[in-house]
Amino acid sequence: MKKIGVLTSGGDAPGMNAAVRAVVRKAIYHELEVYGVYNGYEGLMEGNIKKMELGSVGDIIQRGGTVLYSARSEEFKTDEGQQKAIEQMKKIGLEGLIVIGGDGSFRGAAKLTEKGFPCIGVPGTIDNDIPGTDYTIGFDTALNTIVDAVDKIRDTATSHERTYVIEVMGRDAGDLALWAGLANGAESVIIPEKQESFESVVAKLERGQERGKKHSIIILAEGVGNGVEYGKKIEEETKMETRVTVLGHIQRGGSPSGYDRVLASRLGAKAVDLLMEGVGGRMVGVQNNLVVDHDIIEILNTKHKVNMNMYELSNQLSI
Ligand code: F6P
Repeated sequence: MKKIGVLTSGGDAPGMNAAVRAVVRKAIYHELEVYGVYNGYEGLMEGNIKKMELGSVGDIIQRGGTVLYSARSEEFKTDEGQQKAIEQMKKIGLEGLIVIGGDGSFRGAAKLTEKGFPCIGVPGTIDNDIPGTDYTIGFDTALNTIVDAVDKIRDTATSHERTYVIEVMGRDAGDLALWAGLANGAESVIIPEKQESFESVVAKLERGQERGKKHSIIILAEGVGNGVEYGKKIEEETKMETRVTVLGHIQRGGSPSGYDRVLASRLGAKAVDLLMEGVGGRMVGVQNNLVVDHDIIEILNTKHKVNMNMYELSNQLSI
């Protein structure tokens, strides 16, 4: 293999730049030519592809977002779209592609591999919802953003003796909410995988009030529903003054944590190794601190599981 491409796709995540840097540097280290595809699969179909040099990824390891930009593409889901992309890659002689993104992006990578163009998936999403890896690139940074925001909310919640419902991202997965709940000592964590009954959340708030607690924090994963409505219901039921904060896209931005930079560097480099071995249709990940790879189709057919022991622990520590 002499020429490979790299793209970022779907929702961006802090650490994607560190992964792009690792791919480019590792490829050049092995004397491959490496091409950056701009705007994800949209750019791939349009041929928005440029050669990357060592210096083109200098000074990006610490930057949030993605220098290759990202997009969600409907056209690429069609056979014609995928064919168009393959033709563009063949035009410049690319022989393999590294796709940094989440499960939607991996579906595209699996389709290209099926059509004879080898792709490797690198899990980059704040949601941590990809099986086959303990962590996805961006999760740690997003978690720390949430932790910092909730600490600040706690200050004002205490001053005003209020209850706060804080809605966090995660799509259908509860990982961000659960980890943030544990890290912030939230009274309740409400996740799609295991919904605590409304009655039990209310009972816990009332017990806290009887003990003289000055404030309460409820972390709600967006996959459960609307935080504003949940907050209204809580206020109506408990008569406690309640406010809602939807953290939104600040969770996707910011300089990647040290952990995410290292993870991205390890996974980006491994993806290059696999292409060099002539392997396609794999996803790289980290399990028990070892870099691993899995069949991408198997990963797409496996359901992500949240760590229920951590959920139990969160409940035990917030009685
Ligand atoms: O997958 C990352 C994510 O931030 C999810 O947590 C969220 O549900 C979604 O993307 C938001 O997507 P968009 O930026 O397209 O609104």
